[in-house]
Amino acid sequence: MKRLQAIEADHPEWVVSWSPSRRVGHAPISEFRKVVRETPMLSLDNTYSEADLSAWHERVCKGLGGDVPAYVLEPKIDGIGIELYYREGTFELGLTRGDGEKGDDITSNLRTIRSLPLRLGAPVTVTVRGESYVDRADFEVIQRDPEKKTVTGETFKNPRNFAGGTLKRLNPEYVAKQPLKVFLYEVVGDVPTATQFEALAWMRSLGLPVSRDVERFTDFPSLMERVASWETRRDGLPFDADGLVVKVDSFAQREALGATDKSPRWAIAYKFPARQAATKVNGFEVNVGRTGAVTPVAMLDPVALSGTTVSRASLHNWDEVARKDVRVGDTVLVEKAGEIIPQVVTVIVEQRPPGTEPYPIPTRCPSCESPLRRREGEVALRCENREGCTEQLRQSIAFFAQRDAMNIEGLGEKLVAQLVAARLVRDPSDLYQLTAAQLAALDRMGDKSAQNLVENVARSKPQSLTRLLTALGIPLIGEVAAAAVADRFGALATMMEREPSSLREALLEVPGFGDERARAVAEWFGDARNRAVVERLRAAGVDPVAHRRPSTGPLAGKSLCVTGTLARPRDEVKAAIEAAGGRFVSSVGKGTDYLVAGEKTGAAKRTSAEKFGVRVIDEATLERLLRGEAI
Ligand code: IVH
Repeated sequence: MKRLQAIEADHPEWVVSWSPSRRVGHAPISEFRKVVRETPMLSLDNTYSEADLSAWHERVCKGLGGDVPAYVLEPKIDGIGIELYYREGTFELGLTRGDGEKGDDITSNLRTIRSLPLRLGAPVTVTVRGESYVDRADFEVIQRDPEKKTVTGETFKNPRNFAGGTLKRLNPEYVAKQPLKVFLYEVVGDVPTATQFEALAWMRSLGLPVSRDVERFTDFPSLMERVASWETRRDGLPFDADGLVVKVDSFAQREALGATDKSPRWAIAYKFPARQAATKVNGFEVNVGRTGAVTPVAMLDPVALSGTTVSRASLHNWDEVARKDVRVGDTVLVEKAGEIIPQVVTVIVEQRPPGTEPYPIPTRCPSCESPLRRREGEVALRCENREGCTEQLRQSIAFFAQRDAMNIEGLGEKLVAQLVAARLVRDPSDLYQLTAAQLAALDRMGDKSAQNLVENVARSKPQSLTRLLTALGIPLIGEVAAAAVADRFGALATMMEREPSSLREALLEVPGFGDERARAVAEWFGDARNRAVVERLRAAGVDPVAHRRPSTGPLAGKSLCVTGTLARPRDEVKAAIEAAGGRFVSSVGKGTDYLVAGEKTGAAKRTSAEKFGVRVIDEATLERLLRGEAI
């Protein structure tokens, strides 16, 4: 490596993108670029029992007109979904799963992973999907070493958490030092093989790491037997697997089965049963969230559970505490639901020591001591002191600043707490008024960091309208709903200028909006305090304008699918179709208007086009459509 580095220093013109020296990790980056992928990354439906799995098999057979397919059984690696693009054999781009449609460009981080080949065994252009993960043993080493355990104060609960946290770091040099690995399990787009099993072998022959624990089954009963045997076999894997994935082997059959909005019909996840452990409750912690919800967390005697040590367990609300009658001193059964946050399943009443008492439901906010209230129809107990409750304010400011929202770097929870305590920040708009002098006066804050923070805050101003809407913490508005609102209204001003009732009406037209959500958002915008915050944000220059998809244009209302190689890069074609008002879709279905076939088109999409009576056109014809010409 030293020699290589010396040679490359002397001859920069010889350095290739796939040189092993590139793995070391280079300069930090300021933000991950978002990339819109050609084929959205769907997720898998889950099953939790053998009966569910059989029912799924029945549906598959029915969907195939009675044919019984061969299946491939793969471990479901509990890591972070990734997508890799190789152009002519060279690793060029790597994305996170993101929201399925858009992913973060984490190429510089992925490049540092040694099991990820920078160059394939053949000059093929291919997109593959897989998982980045950390072996359990490597994670345990990290956990034992307090130096390594925390990055910016974060503690990682399990290998998956750690892999995710690491891949999202903006410092590839740091990432290069972590024990990340990858496994690949799907080829996207045109595949040179007819089946998944062959595709995996092909990937392996190119040098891509593919799990060894993959098996093909031609009859369902033997598959089921194997599924059952995995219950113990999972412990032998060096990495965490949260289940198995059963996939239809034949790509032609997959194409015939198709997908729903969210997941393919040709694959299903079988989740391993959650693991449980018994431990003692030492006390309760009462948390106040950003919306004022006051929730209980049980503090436990640390106990090992599926590879992690559990010392806290969530109890969703006070009804649950009462219903399960969890008391301090009780021995409880905890399990991991959704793999990460352990939950209290039940109290082992036989082991209850004498003298315990039901845990009293709090009546006052642990942060501001105002009385707690329950809104009609809600289970949550709330602190309604929105203005004066420090904890609520702290949480909502931290939420505003976090990575998925306004992404104000350096504004972590501790600093937020300081800002709130010093009364420098009373709502998100105050962040944009902070001066370096004010910040430098805070405890343990140097001039340099104060200046940096002011700059980072300013840098967040041009964040998208979607992010801003998410960051404001409007009830019932997550990222997806925020994007839809941004698309409909384009700017805050258009929402602010409407009367609440007219805003509510307009919101009802937003995709995915029903009465409840429209009312919640209209109410939020009708509230004088919220309006004042929005106005102050706008005055400070936080007033993004959304780019909207034109609803007019030569392709308005048309949906087009593209297959094969085109003269123009695919993302350019996609952009052109969308700019002309059309929809770019990844698979041919009933509602597709045209299939644009380039060179080297696979048979599968054409077959579907035939089946659904979709018109197949070539690239030249597409260009004419884009110009608004008749074809
Ligand atoms: S196939 C259309 N195979 O599980 C979805 N996914 O819950 C195709 N995963 O997003 C995914 N191991 O990140 C597939 N052998 C495997 C997998 C696997 C883990 C993850 C993947 C996916 C998630 C779905």
